[in-house]
Amino acid sequence: MDLIIRNGWIVTAHDEFAGDVGIADGKIVSIGHVRDERARVLDAAGKLVLPGVIDMHTHIDHWGGSAKTDDDFFSGTRAAAFGGVTTVIDFAIQRPGETAEAALRRRRSEADGKVCIDYSLHAHVTGADEATLRGIPDIILDGAASFKMFTTYKKAGFKIEDHDCLTLMKRIHEHGGLVMIHAENDSMCESLTEMLVAADVAVPALYPDSRPDVAEAECIARMILFAEYTGATIYIVHVSTRKGAELIRRAQKSGLNVIAETCPHYLLLHRDRYLEADGYKYIMAPPLRDEEDSEALWESIRDGVLSVVSSDHCDYRLDKKMAGQRNFTQVSPGIHGTEWLLPLMYHYGVNAGRITRQQLVKLLSHHPAQIFGLSGKGNIAVGKDADLVILDPTARHTITDDNHHMQADFSPYRGFELRGYPETVISRGQVIVQNGQFLGAPGHGRFVRRSIRPEEIMAVRA
Ligand code: URP
Ligand code: ZN
Ligand code: ZN
Repeated sequence: MDLIIRNGWIVTAHDEFAGDVGIADGKIVSIGHVRDERARVLDAAGKLVLPGVIDMHTHIDHWGGSAKTDDDFFSGTRAAAFGGVTTVIDFAIQRPGETAEAALRRRRSEADGKVCIDYSLHAHVTGADEATLRGIPDIILDGAASFKMFTTYKKAGFKIEDHDCLTLMKRIHEHGGLVMIHAENDSMCESLTEMLVAADVAVPALYPDSRPDVAEAECIARMILFAEYTGATIYIVHVSTRKGAELIRRAQKSGLNVIAETCPHYLLLHRDRYLEADGYKYIMAPPLRDEEDSEALWESIRDGVLSVVSSDHCDYRLDKKMAGQRNFTQVSPGIHGTEWLLPLMYHYGVNAGRITRQQLVKLLSHHPAQIFGLSGKGNIAVGKDADLVILDPTARHTITDDNHHMQADFSPYRGFELRGYPETVISRGQVIVQNGQFLGAPGHGRFVRRSIRPEEIMAVRA
């Protein structure tokens, strides 16, 4: 054996107990009372041992329409590792004239050699032209089995038209892929935005009015109908509203294969942030909502309507965000947060009594692995990759603008006081973070091929 994590409180998706975890050749090889004189030992007494987080929604090294994010695949995955993330799934967004396969190849060349944790890619399709449709079966066979579509961002050239969306849903479903949807009614958002711009009041304080909850709800309802019509399984990303969550709840009750996620910012931050002098910092799509929306999202997490919490990490420095000071259309939307995903969900979820430790593991590790086909990851079990986090439940951590490792020079959670923080992070048996020190290396991360397994998705919904 190479490494033993001794005397930890092991938390899996279904159980928790005191014990040791034995690791050899990057895999978990034994759990319980583990002894081997030759192995390196990490003492985890008084600590939680969790599966590494799978942040299945990040935008690293991303072109957002008017600006590029500030992290690359090294700095982005290094920051993720500090927060206990051991796998990210990012996106390969098709550029104009580029096939989806070429976009995947391009993104692999941007990531390989830089990533310090494992990663995978969702294909992101922007149209249903012949070449894209033809490429879908091979993309799925090649291990990028999930396909995202934007129903908005027309001006940036990302929006998918309804008929194209239906055509793609059918084809992806027929070949065993999973459809992911950013759901906002573009016509509503564009028209409301144009009205604010025309009146010269497109200021951050009014940003939420440009993308109201009905825009999300209408689009979720439409996508649910599309899923019913095509038979596709759909995954709605970053659900932000009570209305949207209710629609998903009803669809699930009626037996449709609709799964969904939310993000910490929709659980913990609210639209009053836009009234602050630096409200431009929070420009993201969908926008922050009301407290009652957040409460409905927590409720939907608790009762299993929302299966995953991801960061939607999109890392812009303040100078880029400030471009939206007087006109929010001048800034690419997005907020960073992969490094805070686990600590925020641990503190405001587990410590606050909103979710159990098993639910935490399901939301951040087990469900992303099941839904997106990362069969070797997502839990603590013999045979799984040794992607693990030792979390000190007593560690105090107050978030500031600069005590993190993301490139953005601010924090939307400034002043949040957390109890419980990752102390040691292990990726395939290698200690990559310990006591605030980065011990990993660019290129350690590997591309992980995925295949969607309907029975695993059913198990999430059960
Ligand atoms: O504002 C956001 N969420 N930016 C990232 C791109 C997306 O829509 O997920
Ligand atoms: Zn989105
Ligand atoms: Zn996103």
